[in-house]
Amino acid sequence: MSSNLRIDIDRLQARLAELADIGGIAGTEGCARLAFTDEDRMGRDLVITWMRDLGLEVTIDVLGNAVGIMAGQVDGPPVMCGSHIDTVRTGGRYDGNLGVLAGLEIIETLRAAGVTPKRALAVAFFSNEEGARFSPDMLGSLAYVGGIPVEEALAIVGIDGTTVGDELARIGYDGSAPLPGLVPHTFFELHVEQGPVLENEAVTIGAVNSVQGISWTDVSVVGQSNHAGTTPMTMRKDPGFVAAACATFVRHLCEELGGTQVGTVGRVEFSPNLVNVVPASANFTVDLRNTDEALLQHAERRFHDFLNKTAAAEECTYETRTLARFEPVEFDRELVSLVARTASDLGYSVRTLPSGAGHDAQMLARVCPTAMIFTPSHDGLSHNPAEYTAPEDLEAGANVLLQAMLQVAQA
Ligand code: HGY
Ligand code: MN
Ligand code: MN
Repeated sequence: MSSNLRIDIDRLQARLAELADIGGIAGTEGCARLAFTDEDRMGRDLVITWMRDLGLEVTIDVLGNAVGIMAGQVDGPPVMCGSHIDTVRTGGRYDGNLGVLAGLEIIETLRAAGVTPKRALAVAFFSNEEGARFSPDMLGSLAYVGGIPVEEALAIVGIDGTTVGDELARIGYDGSAPLPGLVPHTFFELHVEQGPVLENEAVTIGAVNSVQGISWTDVSVVGQSNHAGTTPMTMRKDPGFVAAACATFVRHLCEELGGTQVGTVGRVEFSPNLVNVVPASANFTVDLRNTDEALLQHAERRFHDFLNKTAAAEECTYETRTLARFEPVEFDRELVSLVARTASDLGYSVRTLPSGAGHDAQMLARVCPTAMIFTPSHDGLSHNPAEYTAPEDLEAGANVLLQAMLQVAQA
């Protein structure tokens, strides 16, 4: 009975370790594989080799998304699972990687048991989920569902001045399969929570019911470089002060708004960035998120008003550019219930919760019934090489994914 099938956690852990060695961060369990770098290429090569070794029919599309399909007994769209294998610069080994490698583990478990589900199954990884080098995040899955024209995606310029198209070609992952991609029957994404909720409540599985809204803005402020010693404070046009004031404002705004409002100034660059020069210009990013769209818009308006007032008072000019803007997404209620029921049937504690992080699943939800499965993150830590999820929790998540996919694929 395929309902008794369980994954092999040692095999899954071994793949997670082997992939984490690519771009491994010395002295940690983490890895750095920014999108379309050589490390990303090597990670892709390894995962695609595993896909092919498992007999999956692999297609790579024009944005480098990879889909491996296991034929079912009947024709028709596959039940798909997947996530991403690109990471941030301080990446952990589970963020994204778990959802892809658990998919491969499920294929291997089925192959070993000689089980061919009625519907086809698919395992996918999507390009540039992190958006850390090229904004927006979830770029590959956004293009996969037709959410951005391919030419526009390929022309995106990254933080290092390269373009998506050039880097994709450079690493040899400018595939030929067209976009939008094959619409799955359903899509599941297994992912570490990256927050403290499940661990704090000693709950093993999260049945994720939504993803919060995301707003990323790039701000360039121009003032006047001047001598740090001779320029009276009343004569300064200091964009560095504007940037610092904005970073402080974002924190205070989130404290004032409360609820699920969060805000981060993650990147700041001054020019000429020298100890004795009042900066000529300052460039920084603002990441605002909220589960409620209206509240997120309110936070955006408050920030822009503050920026406008502060820059004017400092006699600086500024420009803003939207790097990413996605509204909150609700997952398919029936599929979320199926995840919760499956977890309970397997004897795991489970609760529903929203996702604070963006995920490829929020894009697939535009084209097919979609749900996510969370496993706990130790200390709620992520985007940190010390990111950790206990083996028994990884195993629980992968077994819930296996059994949830089978219930849909056998129906
Ligand atoms: O930023 C995010 O939420 C995701 O890690 N891309
Ligand atoms: Mn992720
Ligand atoms: Mn991430």
